[in-house]
Amino acid sequence: MKILNIGMIGFGTVGTGVYKVLQSFKNINIKKIAVKNINKKRNVENFDEKLLTSDAYEIVNNPEIDIVVEVSGGTDPTYDLLKTAINNGKHIVTANKELLAKKGSELFKLAQEKNVVILYEAAVAGGIPIIMPIKTILCANKLTKIAGILNGTTNYILTKMAEKDLSYETALKQAQELGYAETDPTGDVKGFDAAYKIAILASISFNKKIDINKIYKEGITKITEQDIKSAKELGYRIKLIALAQMSDKGEVDVRVHPMLVSKKHLLAKVNNATNSVMISGYPVGDLAFTGPGAGSEPTSSSVAGDILVLASELEASDKPIPLYVRNQTEIANQIDISETYNEYYISVTASNNPGAIGVAGTICGNNNINISTIMQKGINEDNTAEIVVITERSKESDVQNALKELLNTDCIKKINNLLRVMN
Ligand code: HSE
Repeated sequence: MKILNIGMIGFGTVGTGVYKVLQSFKNINIKKIAVKNINKKRNVENFDEKLLTSDAYEIVNNPEIDIVVEVSGGTDPTYDLLKTAINNGKHIVTANKELLAKKGSELFKLAQEKNVVILYEAAVAGGIPIIMPIKTILCANKLTKIAGILNGTTNYILTKMAEKDLSYETALKQAQELGYAETDPTGDVKGFDAAYKIAILASISFNKKIDINKIYKEGITKITEQDIKSAKELGYRIKLIALAQMSDKGEVDVRVHPMLVSKKHLLAKVNNATNSVMISGYPVGDLAFTGPGAGSEPTSSSVAGDILVLASELEASDKPIPLYVRNQTEIANQIDISETYNEYYISVTASNNPGAIGVAGTICGNNNINISTIMQKGINEDNTAEIVVITERSKESDVQNALKELLNTDCIKKINNLLRVMN
């Protein structure tokens, strides 16, 4: 049996989980673990403190280490550490979505030159096996669409807003108290985390390089109790959806934003911190993968899985199999959100004047927007009314023009929200 030496960078929630899982595998030897604070008390039974180092370069430059497991996050100094490790001929297992989304192309190219692999099952949707299925058993398919709930924190907040009629602020506070949301929740609530994940999924599904800067990104911070209520009344749930689709012409549309999801849709039923990824392709049809997207144990299942798959490969050969090597060379033709077609939810506050709905309807019509549902429930105390419209499939740029025109009228006081709809 070949014993593989592992050097870990990071020993937080995920790192300690991985350490515990790997204890039962005799062919895996954890040789060194790099941490920021070497004096911090570790909640791991029978842990040998001598494994710890505060210098991660000690790991990436150690000739005895075969696989570097990176579970520390961020891009600095992680990018340089992993480049050094690859240059030193080490295989990489990482959970770092941000690094792969921003610097994946450079790292994968270098890894290929050095004949090592980078595995990253834990980077997307925690414990859900999604990277490996796309790269292996689904490789005969032309994949055309991925739609997913890829961020547990925001799904938890939106679920609680809907179930308990909470405001965004109260639901966020509760999520923080329960440890679902971080003290600085920006990365999750503004859609960065989901954007990194959909960038990774889109690049392997479409086999093209995705530019993270061209991904349209809108978080959940502007969702109000009124939006949740109106959505429910119209038969929808609001979810933060990460979407990637490729047209017949090869145009790639990748984005993250909240959507009204029909309550009959599978994604509408995915609640709390659970993640779900739906993939469509030919010849397979539609697939759905659902499960825990974060947390020590689910994430360590994916990290340890990658390590053991790699160990089994390296038992048989020093050369990793080509499917595990990612080498997208073509750049995706990513389109701007303004070019996309969607159904829309538009909520406006109008003054209680005769003809306000008529004015709104005329402006929509003039901008090629066909209304499919319209809802107004009475008049507010200040003599205004909330009017909610669901449109048929329309072009984003037309909808944005219509919103500008609506705001220029006397009767439309405010655009409360514009959300896209999934049926
Ligand atoms: N913060 C993420 C989430 C998990 O809430 O899903 C790690 O990407």
